[in-house]
Amino acid sequence: MTNRVKIAILISGRGSNMAALLYAAKAETCPFEIALVASNNPQAPGLELAAAEGIATYAHSHKQLSREDHDQIMQGAIVAAEADYVVLAGYMRILSDDFVRRWNDRMLNIHPSLLPKYKGLGTYQRALDAGDSHAGCSVHLVTPELDDGPVLAQTKVAIMPGDTAETLADRVLIAEHQLYPDALAQYVTRQSDPDWILEQVRNRALMLEETYERPSFGTPGWRVGTEKTGKYFAYFSRRHFGETGTSVFVKTSGLDEQNALLEAEPDLYFSPKFYGKSGWIAIRLDTGETDWDHVESWLRKSWSMVAPKRLTKLMDIAAEF
Ligand code: GRF
Repeated sequence: MTNRVKIAILISGRGSNMAALLYAAKAETCPFEIALVASNNPQAPGLELAAAEGIATYAHSHKQLSREDHDQIMQGAIVAAEADYVVLAGYMRILSDDFVRRWNDRMLNIHPSLLPKYKGLGTYQRALDAGDSHAGCSVHLVTPELDDGPVLAQTKVAIMPGDTAETLADRVLIAEHQLYPDALAQYVTRQSDPDWILEQVRNRALMLEETYERPSFGTPGWRVGTEKTGKYFAYFSRRHFGETGTSVFVKTSGLDEQNALLEAEPDLYFSPKFYGKSGWIAIRLDTGETDWDHVESWLRKSWSMVAPKRLTKLMDIAAEF
């Protein structure tokens, strides 16, 4: 696979999840590659394994450093490796807000519980003490609060009679090794997943005033106005009329503008079947490089072209100031 996403993995110890990710990345179809394995613990056994596999490694102890300074040093190594994502795998450090913010939406962690249950440490014993039928593991995005970010994927692991924290941990770890590479692969390719793309368009379309969704010829569309007299300002297309890929149709001011756009950016725009004739234009959304602010402004522009006067008037007044 060309154009793989680059991952920096942060570890503090054993690094078995790191190993699972590293071996998953050896598959030709894997969408990510490991650009760096870094640690706050120069003795972390996982570092040796990574080095033996020919992966760049980096270690810098956190001792005698402020949290911010240490994070800054790690950040330097991650940036130098040109990583697109940071993946925490048994990284036993609380991260500074600044570091978390910099990697917002691009830093993942794996936690050995079915979040939101049992954040923090001692998760297996807590699940046993509570008499739960299942333990498990979760992959989540990292936000400033510990183990609190949106959960991307989970695996449930049945608790067996006679389980101890140790036997349970061993089994959960097997589940972790399956889950993490898979969840990461899905996350880094989400920008070409039609369901994810639809959600992005939907959120932005429904943000506009007096809008609602109504399917049109089997594809989601968004209208402005009342249920009865509302007009469509956008349609979602997942190869809908035999087109390739995933796109959104929006209204231009007419064929002149449409032609100018098609000429200026043929990789971004195309004329949609049937709709093209009346001045609609399709914006490709599955290039992996979608500028969502740009899509948002198109939706607004298209909305204002068909919205009732009483709604656009307010916008016109606002624009004058
Ligand atoms: C795993 O149990 C993981 O869930 C937790 O720390 C442990 C790391 O183990 N975050 P390893 O270093 O990946 O073997």
